[in-house]
Parts: sequence; structure tokens; C-alpha cells
Amino acid sequence: MDSMSQNLLTSPTVAANWKMHPDNLHEAEKLFAGIKRTASYLKNVTTVVCPPALFLGAMSKSYGGTKILLGSQDVSKFSGVGSQTGEVSAEMVADTGAKVSIVGHSERRAMGEDTADIKAKIMNVLNADMEVIYCIGESSRDEAGEYLAFLQKQILDVFKNVPSRFHEQITIAYEPLWAIGGGADKAVTRHDLHQASLFIRKILQGHFSPALAQNTKILYGGSVKRDNARELFVGTNIDGFLIGGASLNADHFCDILRIVNDLNEAKSDEE
Ligand code: PGA
Repeated sequence: MDSMSQNLLTSPTVAANWKMHPDNLHEAEKLFAGIKRTASYLKNVTTVVCPPALFLGAMSKSYGGTKILLGSQDVSKFSGVGSQTGEVSAEMVADTGAKVSIVGHSERRAMGEDTADIKAKIMNVLNADMEVIYCIGESSRDEAGEYLAFLQKQILDVFKNVPSRFHEQITIAYEPLWAIGGGADKAVTRHDLHQASLFIRKILQGHFSPALAQNTKILYGGSVKRDNARELFVGTNIDGFLIGGASLNADHFCDILRIVNDLNEAKSDEE
């Protein structure tokens, strides 16, 4: 299959990971409507919403627009159809109109997903003509910098396995595990985020190409709130955010969309 000619997840991108929320479609539609009101007029940010997979079909049908990309939080490691009770394939997800899937989220890894599963899932997403948000992140930091070797392995495990024509369809979400699910004070510091994004690009440059290092989108995830989004986005060499908790409140999420949109607009005006 030919590589897609154009990335849908342009820089900057702000993606919502609703995880296992809300508990019914009606609430999901309400939350989505709240996000849509703002996302539909912002020109300088790409908005992605990843609801529970079960809601994707109905949400995609009632939305019908192009301004927000719908995504899945996961896909099956199995492809096609088969006797795999409870599984949802990438093809099924793509058929709902979803354009992207998160793969390798630390919460799924904690449920037993391993590198082989992640590689298979990523290929399934790409073969279904969707883009990937691939989550990486260390569980803790150490003075000696061993966590960097861990990040490098997570990057190379995937990029060395995926044919290069697909590489630019993979967006990396850097989500240190210790930073997920807290208040703004739990997030990474600007300095540490900048170091991590430089490191990720250095790995891509060293093992693949300067172009891949430059073109790969890096999102940060882990306790991003409207209070710290500006500080985390400016000067850290990232391309946006993957947001859990704060994406469940439309006002909070839209404030983050506006912050990233306006910062990007100001940057484009300067150029
Ligand atoms: P958080 O979650 O924003 O609630 O920290 C981020 C994630 O797990 O993707």
C-alpha cells in the first residue's frame, strides 16, 4: 500500500484521550459538542478526540465535519476478521470514520500489552490508512540517565519495525508515567520536556534521517491543564499535547486548544 501523501495530524495537534469516560453516548455527544464549538473555528491547531471505541460510529455519523479528527484509544493486535472474542480491529475502527489511533498507552502496557503487540497494532493502524499516536515514556527518572536508553528502545522497537514509507504517519506522544493523572504541578518541567524532545529527535536523526527527526510530531502528555499548557508548549520543541483528565471538561480542553492555536498563530505571523 502506498504511504499517505499528507499527514492529517499537522503541527500543532491537541488530542483528547477520554479513556473509559463518559459512561453513555449522550454524555459523549454533549462533551463533543462543547469541544466542537471552539475547535471548529480555530485555524491554527489540529484537534483530535479519542472517545471509547464503542461511541466512534455514532459520533462520527452525527458530526460529519472535518475540523475534528476522531480517533481510537487502541486497536486489536489481530487484523481482518476472525474468532477473537471481544476484539475490535483497526479496519473496524477506520470504517467508523476514525483517522487515528493511540497505540502503546502506558495504561494498556500495564494491562499486559507488550512490544510485539504494539508493533502489530501499529502496522494494523497504518495498513487501515489511519495515523498512529505512539505513546512512550519512562516510569521513573534516574540521575544516571538510564531512562533515556529506555526511551530509545521504545522508539527503535517501533521505527525499526515499520517500513520507512510509514514513518511520518507516526506521531510520538511522550508521556512519562509518573506525570500522568495529576494536577498541573505533577507535569514534567519545561526543562525536562525540552531535553526529552531533543533526545527523541536525536535518536530519529541518528538512526534514520534529519528529515524524520524534523518532521516527526512529538506530543507531550501527563497532567496538561489550561494552567500549564502555555509554559509547556513554548520553547520545548514539541508539537502539541495528548490530554487525559482535562479533556473531559469542554471548557478546560477548549482553553488549551485556544492557547496552542494562538501561540502557533503568533509564531506564524513572526515567520
Ligand atoms: P492526563 O492523562 O492528562 O490525565 O495526565 C494523559 C494520558 O494518559 O494520556
